[in-house]
Amino acid sequence: MDNIKPPTYLQWDSDIDSNKERTPRSVREIERVVVNPIRDIQWSFEQMAEPAIPVNAVYNRYHYGDNYELLKVLCAENSRRIDLIYIDPPYMTELDYHSTIGVGSYSDVKHVSREAFKDRWPRGLDSYLDMLYHRIGLMRQLLSKEGSIFVHVDWHVSHYVRVLLDEIFGRDNFVNEIVWCFSGGGNSRKHFHRKHDLIFWYARNQDYIYNPQHRPYTSGTVQRGLTPVKGERYKLHEDGALMQDWWIDINKVLSPTARENLKFPTQKPKELIKRIIASASHPGSLVADFFAGSGTTAEVCNELGRNWIMCDNSRVAMQTTLYRLINSSSAPFSISADKSYLEESTSGHLILKNPVVKKCDNNKYVIDIGIQTYRSQIINKDFNPKNFADYIEFWEVDLDYNGKVFNSHFQVIRDKRRFMEAIALDLRLPMTTIKNYQIAIRVYDIFAHAAMAVAPVNM
Ligand SMILES: C[S@@+](CC[C@H](N)C(=O)[O-])C[C@H]1O[C@@H](n2cnc3c(N)ncnc32)[C@H](O)[C@@H]1O
Repeated sequence: MDNIKPPTYLQWDSDIDSNKERTPRSVREIERVVVNPIRDIQWSFEQMAEPAIPVNAVYNRYHYGDNYELLKVLCAENSRRIDLIYIDPPYMTELDYHSTIGVGSYSDVKHVSREAFKDRWPRGLDSYLDMLYHRIGLMRQLLSKEGSIFVHVDWHVSHYVRVLLDEIFGRDNFVNEIVWCFSGGGNSRKHFHRKHDLIFWYARNQDYIYNPQHRPYTSGTVQRGLTPVKGERYKLHEDGALMQDWWIDINKVLSPTARENLKFPTQKPKELIKRIIASASHPGSLVADFFAGSGTTAEVCNELGRNWIMCDNSRVAMQTTLYRLINSSSAPFSISADKSYLEESTSGHLILKNPVVKKCDNNKYVIDIGIQTYRSQIINKDFNPKNFADYIEFWEVDLDYNGKVFNSHFQVIRDKRRFMEAIALDLRLPMTTIKNYQIAIRVYDIFAHAAMAVAPVNM
């Protein structure tokens, strides 16, 4: 008789074919962004410290589309260079999530709700587990020798996900189960308010990166530390106490007026992601988030000097991240997309002004460009402004469009309030090239749709 004990694993009614046999669709680079935000309605390019420079080396990447396609492509590259993956997937809540924004003017604010993503599963838990199991399996293949993954979930599925992770990574590679506690409203009279999430940390193997994190000592410990105690062991450390696996010092992004609040449902606080990235990666590491949402991980990576790969298949998530990266003066990045996703999100009707070239006193040339009009394809009965600019969230300029990849050299956004205030519709820019060429402008509207138009420049 065979004595080998079968491994413990989770069994469900899997429909593997729908995931495994699907031929990966093409993932194509559509845009490169060198961030040069223009917020001032009276902006003039002389104010710029440095003109926009097209970059060749772009280390950061955003993919708009299903992460399954991207994971397949990355696995085919076989580079195993990601030091840290943080994912915050849907939690099987069976809800639809909306991003509601205030638009119009300060004196007449209207609310527009955009669907961000659906957390519904045709075969319930079975299809949810199919989705996560295959994707996390691919993610493991991408981790470097010292790499690890943080998987953020809540009570709906945490118990299943932990068993999946044991199977994919091996129980020996479990590092921590972090309990993130937060406060906020709740009105259940049937049970305790559910006010924590779980973040599972698993490593590829035992040599994973860990930079110990500290927290302030409690006042009791500080008091005791002031009294003479026995031995070195009890001395207080100047960095504070070592962090435990339960975190109560970071709250959700609750305030509607918080600078950080991008009105993306399920948005996580930067401080939380900062702690994770600082603990499990080094400056210069490559960090990935395949369920990027509002792009919190990308912004934190920029702040901490990490390179990044982000992915999301929601238009609202993609546009929110793009805005966030522009507004926070991100490092350059490229955007790839799945063709089918792209077509679906290109819908508005954009007409440009004819570009006008002028010679300046210093013999240099400048070009005046602008938007003649923009019409969104979405009709919203509550919001029907006279001024077409009210429909525009932000726009980008490619000063020398090559007909293939949009090189975003300048991005026009509003100052402070993302959807209100006036937005510039005309720009005067330095000429980058003295030849016949074409400029392109891409507009992102408040319904998270985009439109692009091209205008020839004749010298
Ligand atoms: C919980 S939210 C992430 C929130 C994010 N951590 C933040 O701070 O904003 C989950 C995200 O996963 C995205 N998503 C769900 N399924 C996906 C898939 N198959 N491929 C790519 N993104 C997906 C959703 O569109 C949603 O934006």
